[in-house]
Amino acid sequence: MSTSDNTFDVLIVGSGASGLNLALELSEFARVAVITKSGLHESNTYYAQGGIAAVLDEHDSIKSHIQDTLDAGAGLCDPDVVRTVVESGRVAIEKLTGYGVKFTREGDELHLTREGGHSHRRVVHAADATGKAIELTLEDRVRENANIHIFEHHNAIDLYCPRDKNGVRGSVSGLYALDTIENKVKAFTAPFVVLATGGVSKVYLYTSNPDVATGDGIAMAWRAGCRVANMEFTQFHPTCLYHPKAKSFLVSEAVRGEGGLLTLENGERFMDKYDERGELAPRDIVARAIDDQMKRKGLDCVYIDISHKPAEFIQEHFPTIYARCLSFGFDMTKEPLPVVPAAHYTCGGVMVDAFGRTDIEGLYAIGEVTYTGLHGANRMASNSLLECLVYSSAAATDIQTRLNNAAPAKSPPPWDESRVTDSDEEIVISHNWDELRRFMWDYVGIVRTTKRLQRAQTRIDMLQIEAEEYYGNFRVTGDLLELRNLTVSAELIVRSAMKRKESRGLHYTRDHPESDDANLGPTVLVPRNCPKQES
Ligand code: FAD
Ligand code: SIN
Repeated sequence: MSTSDNTFDVLIVGSGASGLNLALELSEFARVAVITKSGLHESNTYYAQGGIAAVLDEHDSIKSHIQDTLDAGAGLCDPDVVRTVVESGRVAIEKLTGYGVKFTREGDELHLTREGGHSHRRVVHAADATGKAIELTLEDRVRENANIHIFEHHNAIDLYCPRDKNGVRGSVSGLYALDTIENKVKAFTAPFVVLATGGVSKVYLYTSNPDVATGDGIAMAWRAGCRVANMEFTQFHPTCLYHPKAKSFLVSEAVRGEGGLLTLENGERFMDKYDERGELAPRDIVARAIDDQMKRKGLDCVYIDISHKPAEFIQEHFPTIYARCLSFGFDMTKEPLPVVPAAHYTCGGVMVDAFGRTDIEGLYAIGEVTYTGLHGANRMASNSLLECLVYSSAAATDIQTRLNNAAPAKSPPPWDESRVTDSDEEIVISHNWDELRRFMWDYVGIVRTTKRLQRAQTRIDMLQIEAEEYYGNFRVTGDLLELRNLTVSAELIVRSAMKRKESRGLHYTRDHPESDDANLGPTVLVPRNCPKQES
């Protein structure tokens, strides 16, 4: 297919681990466009620290990894999905080493570290900058591949799914994207579109995520008619560095895996009061324990202390964290680090099947943007990168079987700007961004109540009206597009949280503090235009 008119076999939106791995696998038989809203490597993937979970140690077992994942997921994981993903761990790691990713080794073997919820050492890593090692290696492979066309600084706006003359929904056949350098909206065409856009933790004031994590793929899929599930399960990472300039820099769970202790300022430990696994309990438990200590004692932060380990050990295992903390004046080889929880991972998302297929023909979703059933009510550490690799491979396989029989895609009509002008009040957009993130943190955070959720919903309704008004009347900008998507994702989070009348995993509400095993299942939201309803 020609690329001169932005027509491809497959459009991939997003360039983290899932998008780039998919692009490489597809490139063997298809012409692919990778559309990404910042530079190619800017993604959650790039910042991943701890590693990728895979059963590689002879004392470990698939059964144990499955059981740990199910336990962390608090009854909501899909056991078949868990098995498939866990069983694919070794192959996923081999593929990455094949691409040239340099993981940390101990002699001839890969070094395995440990994180919360894992009952064995099974986390493959590149010191404490695993994501960077993966992302930059994949970037190198992608850039040298003639079948992959890269569109950086292109912010995907919406999917194009034309209806036929009887008004019946067709398959996806392209999308619109704002080129933020040329300031121009462009149309892209393909019979297959894959959302690999990551999560939505930027909807919270404090987050470990980079700026790109604004839930665009979730909102685009929802607007197009896809179901989403389990959006109430936002994972708060227990230990982000507490410093006004640190922008929620993560202190990896592997620090606790290698012996780091959580303490109060006076050095007193507290985790054993909450869980017998102490510092290595799953994240929901640790984050809630920290939140509880901070709220009950009026603290600004707690501390993580690994200074009892030899300085060389700390510098060798955690060179990035050591250097970054030192730049803020904290020497972790000598003193505890101040830490607080921050929004980290979106466990829910666009509902997909085992191949990443969504409710819309030709539209796939992979990685953090999805709900696959792997994570249930709480993702276990280092299972996310694994999910990205497994589902990108599965989607590539499925697209390969369908590509030759795909009907030619209908190009989107040119973007209509005839009725819009430049906004004269950009301040409204930045103010609404701030307001949304602050009340999501205050009302839809680690501990929820029905009243807080209702307050959030009222405010979201107002912000959505303003965002849509701006979208309809003014020329689109990156900030406006993200605000529009953030308000949609926020609504989905709040609606899901309201539907779940129990506490489970990452969703804790004071109004329903117990779990309700009688009504076990995912929270599914169905948009009005979902094909499942129309048929
Ligand atoms: P991402 O890597 O987030 O990539 C999304 C891509 O989509 C980006 O390129 C973005 O620019 C692009 N995009 C978004 N919207 C648009 C749009 N509208 N138009 C065009 N492009 C768009 N998981 C682990 O398993 N192990 C770890 O050790 C680990 N550590 C972590 C540490 C940190 C600090 C963070 C933030 C996360 C960590 N995670 C870890 C989680 C894991 O990194 C992510 O879940 C995973 O990388 C997601 O990959 P992805 O490909 O789905 O999305
Ligand atoms: C970390 O290194 O603590 C992050 C691991 C993860 O989110 O899986």
